Amino acid sequence: MKPNHLENFWMPFTNNKDFKADPRIITSAKGMYYTSAEGKQILDGTAGLWCVNAGHCHPKIVEAVTKAVNTLDYAPNFHFGHNDAFELSNRLAMQFPKNINHFFYTNSGSESVDTALKIALAYQRARGKGTKTRLIGRERGYHGVGFGGISVGGMVKNRMYFGSLLNGVDHIRHTHDPVKNAYSRGEVEHGVELADDLERLVSLHDASCIAAVIVEPFAGSTGVLPPPKGYLKRLRTICDKHDILLIFDEVITGFGRLGTMTAAEKFGVEPDIITLAKGLTSAVVPMGAVGVKDEIYETMVENADAPIELFHGYTYSGHPLACAAALATLDAYEEDEMFKRSADLTQYFADAAHALKGTKHVTDIRTIGLAAGIDLESREGAVGARAYNVMKSMWDKGVMVRVSGDSLAYSPPLIISKAQIDQMFEVTAKALKEN
Ligand SMILES: Cc1ncc(COP(=O)(O)O)c(C=O)c1O
Repeated sequence: MKPNHLENFWMPFTNNKDFKADPRIITSAKGMYYTSAEGKQILDGTAGLWCVNAGHCHPKIVEAVTKAVNTLDYAPNFHFGHNDAFELSNRLAMQFPKNINHFFYTNSGSESVDTALKIALAYQRARGKGTKTRLIGRERGYHGVGFGGISVGGMVKNRMYFGSLLNGVDHIRHTHDPVKNAYSRGEVEHGVELADDLERLVSLHDASCIAAVIVEPFAGSTGVLPPPKGYLKRLRTICDKHDILLIFDEVITGFGRLGTMTAAEKFGVEPDIITLAKGLTSAVVPMGAVGVKDEIYETMVENADAPIELFHGYTYSGHPLACAAALATLDAYEEDEMFKRSADLTQYFADAAHALKGTKHVTDIRTIGLAAGIDLESREGAVGARAYNVMKSMWDKGVMVRVSGDSLAYSPPLIISKAQIDQMFEVTAKALKEN
């Protein structure tokens, strides 16, 4: 096939045929807005893909990356190193839960998840508990698209096409109960006991066979599902009781989404491993990271049975441009007090989202921090069609929103204004009336 403007790019997680028949092309971005190919301003209701937390083209980040690309385009971090990579780890250690002081760099959330799972297995072996090999995820979880991530993940379409996945993986039940917890704000009232599902898997396999449990503090990709009150604490207690590592996948909950650096901080629960990406660089340069508690790093380094203690890494782990972007992003968050801004806006944002209760097709609304999920009644025999069409109508009306099945998801940059919050939900109401 000859090159064709749209045909040659196989777009990710996209209905390629539908998009190419009626494309939505973005040509530039600034602050809260994209500009479309037609020259229209589109309000970014989703911070891209939950990643542009500092807003588009933040001058401080752009300047840092521009300077970096002219100074050190690339340096390997295998056996050599560069200063920004070390400085970034120091900065993260200062701002993360007190036990999490060592950071491994990746290029995406998916790589962070696979890295975290590998570290969990290697650590159990290094401490003489090599039978602890099982990994536990949760139904409705999203942990990216690597084989590790889709194995512990719990989204059927992301799993069903790809064979038998990793073996030795189980799932605890999800916490979504739209009947008991309908129209919720923040953590939901019912479901703390669902953490005990981990005990069921311990009874089935024995704790001596389980390496780690991985959960999102709130599930984002399956429609914004806040945790039940006390649930994460109870998971922590059960993990402690059975000597199982607790991994928080904070790829979307980190960097201000909940008004704090991490969900761990927000909910007062310290995991053993944290996965990061997205807001780490506000998406200006792709980057992810895995933070581990001191004991994991120290055990690996002290007990290594080879000169290299972890046989893992990426060519671009700690890429100089990514490190420069991350350092400038941390500065921007701090100087512009963006996490405080996010916390201060939570109530207003929740009120605006919940004002859609009673609007045509809406069956549930959940908000937590600066994130919201709105469930729509499905069309007969066409699950997902309504939300997809609402998303397209909203684009036509100048707002970008995300869809997952028949849910709409909102996760704007932390710099959003009250007027823009209003615009986002008013446009949603209009689009719902048309679909
Ligand atoms: C919780 C979580 N983990 C992992 C990922 C994967 O990140 P990436 O798309 O950067 O690989 C995502 C992406 O949305 C996510 O929400």
